[in-house]
Order: sequence, then structure tokens, then C-alpha cells
Amino acid sequence: MKENFQVAIDGPAAAGKSTVAKKVAQICSFIYIDTGAMYRALTFKALEEKVDLTDGQKLKSILDSAIIKLKPTKNGQRVILDGEDVSEVIRYQNVTNAVSLVSSHREVRKEMVLRQRNLAKNTGVVMDGRDIGTHVLPDADVKIFLRASVEERALRRYKELMAKNILAVSLEKLQEEIALRDKKDSEREVSPLVKAEDAIEIDTTSLSIEDVVDRILALVKERQSH
Ligand code: CDP
Ligand code: CDP
Repeated sequence: MKENFQVAIDGPAAAGKSTVAKKVAQICSFIYIDTGAMYRALTFKALEEKVDLTDGQKLKSILDSAIIKLKPTKNGQRVILDGEDVSEVIRYQNVTNAVSLVSSHREVRKEMVLRQRNLAKNTGVVMDGRDIGTHVLPDADVKIFLRASVEERALRRYKELMAKNILAVSLEKLQEEIALRDKKDSEREVSPLVKAEDAIEIDTTSLSIEDVVDRILALVKERQSH
């Protein structure tokens, strides 16, 4: 079997990417790389340092000095920024609402993509984000694009943030914010959120997590047997 088998999973916010990516990675013994967490960690650092988020050069210099590690643990993946565990704070509303602006800068994306490709070297990998199939891993063995209605995605994120005790807004407001972030991510100039031509689209609106995982595993198996 190929040593560095690559699975790319893209899609809009709360479509289920990270949940299914983690499970597929676990079952296949691949590593999981949450690229959104990397953009969130940079955004957290930029907000802490009160940097102008429209200044791509400045953000790039902040990124150059940032050590971002994705650490697998038995309680899931932890995100470590400059030695500090930021896994929870990067999911807060202030980071979520600023991350699309930070990630729209060419300088920032160039450096992030280098780091992401580096992490995926010489190992089986499941990577999720917005530009994985189109840009980060254009030759990925399996490319998936997950979709779900915005109502369903808002409801999923609402329940998730409630369970984590970090919900700061109503369901209606959350839906608005998700729709706005999708719009910004889809309309930006550099590597926008778009389905790769050769990606397989799965609408997860009425699918369970297990259904989606099973479909992806079947595609992985099929590719591996080629
Ligand atoms: O979990 P959720 O889908 O809400 O977002 P995420 O995957 O944590 O990504 C947060 C944000 O980072 C996205 O809304 C994008 O603005 C940005 N991002 C990106 O531009 N490219 C990626 N490959 C991953 C995330
Ligand atoms: O990574 P992304 O933002 O695309 O979504 P996620 O964080 O994996 O999923 C958002 C929430 O939806 C999680 O709480 C999942 O458990 C839930 N989910 C679901 O209910 N049904 C699915 N088919 C996929 C995810």
C-alpha cells in the first residue's frame, strides 16, 4: 500500500469535516491535520498582540515567530501555540469572527500551505480545510467536499458550542455568522473555498457521522486497491 496516502476533506463551516476526518484517520492509522486550527491559532495570537488584521505583512511576521503544533492525545487533538494549549480559546467567537480576514492574506496562506505540506510528508494523512483538494494537496488520492444546509450546520455548531459551554450568541445570530464566514471564504481572491473538480461531493444534511465515515472509507479502500 502507498506510504503517504492522502485524503483531502474540504467544505464550509460545520459541515462535519473535522469529526469525520478524525475518525477516518483513526481507522486508517493516518495522521489528522486540522488546517483551520492553524489559521485560528494565528488569529488568536494576532488578536492578543492587537495587530491590524488587514495588514498581511504584519500577520506574516507574527506567523513566522509562531510555533503551532497539532498534538494527538487520547482526548482528541490539542492545538499548542508557542508552548501553550489554545485548543479551547481558538473556538471562541472573537477568533471565529476574525479568522476569515486573517486567512484571506496571500502572505499568510503561502506560509501556512508550506507548513501543511511539510506535515503531510512521508505519512498517510487526512487533512481538512477549505483549499486542501484545490491547493494544498492537489494530488490527493481521495478528495471529498462536504456540504450541508446552512440551517443544519448552524444547529450542529449551536449544540456543539452549548455542550462546550462557550456559546455566546443565539441560533439565528450563529447562522448569520456562519453564512457570512462562508461568503468571505468563498469570495476571497487567494485559494477560495471551492470544490475541486475531481472531489466527490457528499451532502451530509441528513446523514449521520457514521454514514459519512463509511462512504469515505469505501472510497479510500477502492483507491488503495488500485
Ligand atoms: O470548524 P469550522 O469549519 O468552523 O472552521 P475551521 O475549519 O476551524 O476554519 C476556520 C477558518 O479558517 C475558515 O472559516 C477559513 O477562513 C480559514 N481556513 C482557510 O482559509 N483555509 C483552510 N484550509 C482552513 C481554514
Ligand atoms: O469541521 P467542521 O466545521 O466542518 O464540522 P465539525 O466540527 O466536524 O462538526 C460540527 C458538529 O456537527 C459536530 O458537533 C459534529 O458532531 C456534528 N455533526 C453531525 O451532527 N452530523 C454529521 N454528519 C457531522 C457532524
